[in-house]
Amino acid sequence: MANIVWHHTTITKEDRRARNGHHSAVLWFTGLSGSGKSTLANAVSKKLFELGVQNYVLDGDNIRHGLNKDLGFSAEDRTENIRRIGEVAKLFVDSGQFVLTAFISPFERDRQLVRQLLEADEFIEIYVKCPLEECEKRDPKGLYKKARNGEIREFTGIDSPYEEPSSPELIVETHLYSLEECVNQVIAYLRHHQRIKGEK
Ligand code: ADX
Repeated sequence: MANIVWHHTTITKEDRRARNGHHSAVLWFTGLSGSGKSTLANAVSKKLFELGVQNYVLDGDNIRHGLNKDLGFSAEDRTENIRRIGEVAKLFVDSGQFVLTAFISPFERDRQLVRQLLEADEFIEIYVKCPLEECEKRDPKGLYKKARNGEIREFTGIDSPYEEPSSPELIVETHLYSLEECVNQVIAYLRHHQRIKGEK
């Protein structure tokens, strides 16, 4: 950027992590609409909160009401949506917290770009896997019905692609396990990889 110089902060990420007594990282939930990303992210957030781990949830539907309300669902806009969320997520990591993001984020390349913004131990990609038929059956917002009727265009899984993660840190299958079991799988991952304290 011309004429803009990076200013280093006085308090560093390491200072903030030391004060919090834990690591900081992004839990990047990706998956189809209706797969359970927001539900799972919020349930994991509650569990982390109870464990004393500073964290915050960024959710697709909410962010699209504010920060990203100028964006639609074309491939370009989805890419820009994820780019901005990646930058915001990085700020949260710098602030010493865990940030849980719940966006479809359908494109592998966009997710890779976010991964590259962060250190290797700061990006945990969690594929919230659920068959399209099951998401469509759940249809919590009635959007699949509208997409099938042609009332919504470029709907993920119907007439816009979803690229499965090639090597996610974790796959959680929400049609096979209860919400509690899915939460435990995420927490177990974080403990096993020493991202949070506790029994492995
Ligand atoms: S992303 O593809 O850019 O990552 P994001 O997660 O922010 O999507 O938003 C997805 C949410 O927007 C869905 O859960 C759904 O409620 C709503 N939505 C509205 N139109 C569409 C569409 N064409 N495709 C997917 N989701 C849509």
